[in-house]
Amino acid sequence: MSTPTDTAGILSFPEIDSAVEALGSGPLQERLLIEHVHPLFSRVLARTESYLANHSLGRPLDRAESDVARFATLWQRDMDEAWGPWLAELTAFRARIAALIGLSRTDAVVSKPGAGQGLRAVLNALPRPKDGKLHHVVTTRAEFDSIDFIIKTYQEQGRIRVTWIATHEGLLDQEEIIRAMNPSVDLVVVSHVVFATGQLLDRADQIVAAAHRAGSLCLLDMYHSAGVVPLSMEALGADFGIGGSYKYLRGGPGAGWLAIHPRHLSEGQPPLRTLDTGWFAKKDTFGFARDERPLLAPGGDAWMECTPFVLGAYQAAAGLALLRSLGVDRLREYSVGQQAFLADRLRAQDVPIRLVEPRGAFLLVPSKDAPALSRALKLGGLSTDARGAHVRLCPDILNTREELDLAAATIARVKTAAGL
Ligand SMILES: Cc1ncc(COP(=O)(O)O)c(C=O)c1O
Repeated sequence: MSTPTDTAGILSFPEIDSAVEALGSGPLQERLLIEHVHPLFSRVLARTESYLANHSLGRPLDRAESDVARFATLWQRDMDEAWGPWLAELTAFRARIAALIGLSRTDAVVSKPGAGQGLRAVLNALPRPKDGKLHHVVTTRAEFDSIDFIIKTYQEQGRIRVTWIATHEGLLDQEEIIRAMNPSVDLVVVSHVVFATGQLLDRADQIVAAAHRAGSLCLLDMYHSAGVVPLSMEALGADFGIGGSYKYLRGGPGAGWLAIHPRHLSEGQPPLRTLDTGWFAKKDTFGFARDERPLLAPGGDAWMECTPFVLGAYQAAAGLALLRSLGVDRLREYSVGQQAFLADRLRAQDVPIRLVEPRGAFLLVPSKDAPALSRALKLGGLSTDARGAHVRLCPDILNTREELDLAAATIARVKTAAGL
């Protein structure tokens, strides 16, 4: 096995780079993926089930184990000296996320355990409400539970007032979001890809522009788009992005992030200051000066807070390295082909499907009791999950067409047998 670190102490992944190099530079091909990339996942592929819940909990590389062990080795062996490589790895995590979502500055990304903490940091950074009383947030009924719950809690506690954009058969009308912008709005919170339906908001740039015309900030939840569709947060113009690693990034729970558009990262005291702060946001964290005024670190470091969850950077490193090597554009192309293949096989088996256009990485099978259908599929050896009236199916580079063919047959059989 290759040495896990390069000379700077940052994890490096020569075996991933050479596996991906062996794929050539063209579109991804199943035969080559099986030969070169699947061996990087030997542990998780030893499971007997067929796994189509890649949109939920991404499958880890074998390397995740030794990377996490590397964190522990540094701790046991070096104690206090471990902080150097630990924090270097955290910076590498920030750089990898920044590159993934099209940000030109590493410090534009700060680690957070979850996406919701990123939202809270933004809610707690809003400048004075425009109406002088209460911040006005525009959001949708299609946001993930964590985001929905945080916004409702702020609303119930009298911290914000909210305009909720409804869904229509689960889908958002992007024009309706744009029309909801008016000069009273302080913050817009919307998903780039909707978690329940996979709907891709292909007018996200226009939503951001409309928010800006109204003098509002805009936060995009990129949990289902980062690593799925090629994207540039700087091109989209969003002020903030939130996401995490446990799905498409194959990085496990705890390695979330908040991204801040570089326009908000002036040197010195930044114009937006969040209350979600702590000693890692200080001007000189390890100087231990205790000025009466809290002096912030420059740029994005001012958005850091308490002692960070360093282990998350180790968990997430291999998945991000693989993503970078493969390239999101190639992965997207492959995913579109796999989804089309699976949709064909389901149609051939007379299984009803719902194809939201455009969409992210998964497709939907409607059911009168989707959770029950998903449970029945699990008993049949097929891992999926359910949201609302649909079972979600997400193939990835570890699923073969033969497996997808079998999965379609299993879904047809189980659905009919269970009357679901
Ligand atoms: C769109 C979206 N946002 C956020 C999250 C996770 O939020 P948190 O990290 O706050 O638990 C998920 C998880 O499924 C999600 O799908």
